[in-house]
Amino acid sequence: MIKRTPFIVGNWKMNKTRAQTIEFLNKFIKGVEHVTSKEIGVAPAFTSLVTASDLLKNTKIKLCSQNVHWDESGQYTGEISSLMLKDYDVEYAIIGHSERRKFFGETNESVNKRVKGAIKGGLKIILCVGETKEEREAGNTENIVKNHLIGGFKDISVNELLKDVTIAYEPVWAIGTGLNATVEQAVEVHRFIRTTIDSIYGVGTSQKVRILYGGSVKPDNIDGFMATDDIDGALVGGASLDAESFIRIANFKEA
Ligand code: PGA
Repeated sequence: MIKRTPFIVGNWKMNKTRAQTIEFLNKFIKGVEHVTSKEIGVAPAFTSLVTASDLLKNTKIKLCSQNVHWDESGQYTGEISSLMLKDYDVEYAIIGHSERRKFFGETNESVNKRVKGAIKGGLKIILCVGETKEEREAGNTENIVKNHLIGGFKDISVNELLKDVTIAYEPVWAIGTGLNATVEQAVEVHRFIRTTIDSIYGVGTSQKVRILYGGSVKPDNIDGFMATDDIDGALVGGASLDAESFIRIANFKEA
C-alpha cells in the first residue's frame, strides 16, 4: 500500500486579528515543533498572512490561503492572486469551500478556474467537496461529490493532480455544527472519491492522492478518524482557533 503523509490543516475562516495570530502561532509552533511525520498547515485570513508568514519562516508549518483568484492580477475587486500569495510563501490554497459556494456564489465552473489558475501560478490546492443535509437525505451524496470532483478537476492533468492536489471531503451538515460524520460515513465517501478519481484518471491513481476529512473535527474525535487508512488528514475549522486544541489535533495518535 502507498503511504500518504498525513496532513492537518487549520482553516481560520474570518477570525483572528494580527495580535491574535501572533499569540496563537507563538504557542502553536512550540506545540508541534517535534512533529516530523506529518504535514501541518494553517490558513489565516488574508490580513494575517504577512504576520503568519514571518512567524512561520523557520518552521515546517505550511502557510495556506482560504481562497485564490485565477488570474495573476487585474480588475477583480476584493480578490487576491497566486502571485501575491506566493510572495508570502503560501504553499496551499483552499478552493471550493462550501461557505464560498453557499455565500459567495462559487460554482463548479468558478472553482475549476481557481484550481487551474492556482496550479498554473505555482500553488498546491485543497479542493473541498461535500453534500448538504438535504442532499444526503435525498440520497444524492455520491452525485454531488462526483460533480464537485469532475467540475473542479476539469482540464487538470494526472501529473498536476498527483503533484499539486489534496482533496477535502467536507459534508456541509458537519461543518461548524458539532455534528461530525461518523468514521464509517467519512470512510464510505472517501472510498467513493477514490473510485471516482480512478475512473477519471486511471485505476490506482487515487492511492497517491491525499483525502482529508473536515467537519467538526475535535481533539476527542481526531484519533478515530486518523486510525483508518482511508482518511489522510483533517481540515479543521472551529477547533483550529484555539492553540491547545489544535496542538492536540496535530499531535493525533498514529495507529
Ligand atoms: P469546522 O469547520 O471544523 O468548524 O466544522 C471545518 C471547515 O469548514 O473546514
